[in-house]
Amino acid sequence: MQPQLILEDTIYTLEQLQNVQAPQIALAGRSNVGKSSLINALAGRKKLARISATPGKTQSINYYRVEPWGFYLVDLPGYGYAKASKSDREKWAKLINAYLVGTSSLKALAVLLDCRIPPQKLDIDLTAYARSIKIPLLPVLTKADKCKQKERSAKQAEWARLLEGVKPIISSSSSGLGINALWDAMKLYALG
Ligand code: GTP
Ligand code: MG
Repeated sequence: MQPQLILEDTIYTLEQLQNVQAPQIALAGRSNVGKSSLINALAGRKKLARISATPGKTQSINYYRVEPWGFYLVDLPGYGYAKASKSDREKWAKLINAYLVGTSSLKALAVLLDCRIPPQKLDIDLTAYARSIKIPLLPVLTKADKCKQKERSAKQAEWARLLEGVKPIISSSSSGLGINALWDAMKLYALG
């Protein structure tokens, strides 16, 4: 059965941030890694979350309620977009940080990693930070359709080493690869 995603809330500022009680899985990753596209692939819809070839598209925290299960998928702004102004980057970093620290019902953080590029410092910093505040990590290699099989496996192994054995799910929002596996993993975290 195809789960339904319903956009329920959009948060732009720290002041709007609330501690939503329902279980949540958040999607984080560098700008342009494919977070919003993954939301669409998970929903089986093309235009639910807005995507763009230009990084820095999502500048808010978007809460999608997942039916029939009642937990939330939360699309976070991307980080590390070099062309954004310093004050914008700081604003988004603060918002992401406040969300991670302030959401007691956050069950896991899906960290999206581009299968085409080597592990980046910002990604390693985020995973280390999430671990330090005891948020379980659900690493996801994105854009697998752009990578050869060999490259995917090598990246998966490299990340598993960096994450002390946690192996990323290999996904593609274009082909649908890994989408069911991702739903299964998210359900397990969100619903226990
Ligand atoms: P921000 O909102 O800026 O943080 O970016 P994002 O992480 O939400 O990325 P988004 O989903 O907007 O996708 C960025 C670009 O990558 C778009 O041009 C997408 O079409 C492309 N893209 C995303 N996922 C895939 C994928 O699985 N395969 C391929 N080939 N392209 C993808
Ligand atoms: Mg986005």
